[in-house]
Amino acid sequence: MSRAEAPAVDLGVEIAGLHLPTPLIAASGTFGYGDEYAGVADYGAIGAISAKGLYLNPRDGCPPPRIWETPSGMLNAIGLQEVGIERFLAEKLPSVRALGKVLIANICGSSFEEYGELARRLDDAEGVHGIEVNISCPNVSAGGIEFGCDPDMAARATEVVRRGTRLPVIPKLSPSASDIGGMARRVEDAGADAVSLINTIPAMAVDVETRRPRLANTIGGLSGPAVRPVAVRMVWQAARATRLPVIGMGGIAGAEDAIEFLLAGASAVQIGTMNFVDPGVWRRTRSDLEDYCRRHGVARVRDLTGAMEPFPPAPEVRR
Ligand SMILES: Cc1cc2nc3c(=O)[nH]c(=O)nc-3n(C[C@H](O)[C@H](O)[C@H](O)COP(=O)(O)O)c2cc1C
Repeated sequence: MSRAEAPAVDLGVEIAGLHLPTPLIAASGTFGYGDEYAGVADYGAIGAISAKGLYLNPRDGCPPPRIWETPSGMLNAIGLQEVGIERFLAEKLPSVRALGKVLIANICGSSFEEYGELARRLDDAEGVHGIEVNISCPNVSAGGIEFGCDPDMAARATEVVRRGTRLPVIPKLSPSASDIGGMARRVEDAGADAVSLINTIPAMAVDVETRRPRLANTIGGLSGPAVRPVAVRMVWQAARATRLPVIGMGGIAGAEDAIEFLLAGASAVQIGTMNFVDPGVWRRTRSDLEDYCRRHGVARVRDLTGAMEPFPPAPEVRR
């Protein structure tokens, strides 16, 4: 059967009341504010865009070097360089809105108040369809501990965002959480509509000749294929622990990786680091995902969510 004759595959998914035409979402911080890849990436293959992280005020980020390539991955310590909410709304949002894509704002806070204020500012922003809450940020008044390491702080950050907006709220869980399932349940109880995971894994590398860290910030976040098995495990645990839709990410480089996350329980996936390597990843992943569904008789991609089969029991050994 030629491709033209093959039955159509329904790639659409629903997440927290949002309809995404494909389950592929551009990951925050790797796709600019949303329109920077125009003319390079196939936007038709992208189901939604999670924009670069926003604090209330502009930030310069960390000094260079900010990036170091590692085996099958990258370390980054950009330090959330960004324009702040005011300029995002006035200067960035109009052109991103014109793309007509589902747009998820990604917010970062140094305090609960900052998360709440950002949610209120985004609530009636035309063209913003959801809020992803990056809780892998240091809580300044708690001595810099990440909100996402502590279930109480993660729940409270979710609550203040929930109170500030009618938009879908999607806490982005940190891989630093020791009990990711428990964390997913806490943010569910605090009013989340979905969860996304994983953010980068805190990591570092040292130049043995100079004896200096590879990054000026010493510690950075590890992403790319190197983190994928960790991410798949965490997505599986989070999906089993909560009724919320789960958005999975970490090292997705093509359809096979995306399907791995879907089978483990994700309803949609994000692609991050791969944008830097091959912006053609979108077209290729959508097309290979469709081919996979046809080969396996899957009419709707959403039927793949959580469809992992248990490992068969070992055959009885006769002695
Ligand atoms: C350069 C860079 C910047 C990032 N910035 C953000 C950010 O602003 N907010 C956020 O929630 N995650 C941010 N992330 C994390 C990614 O969205 C994603 O969770 C992580 O990289 C794992 O996916 P990947 O392996 O496909 O990149 C960033 C990642 C990278 C590599």
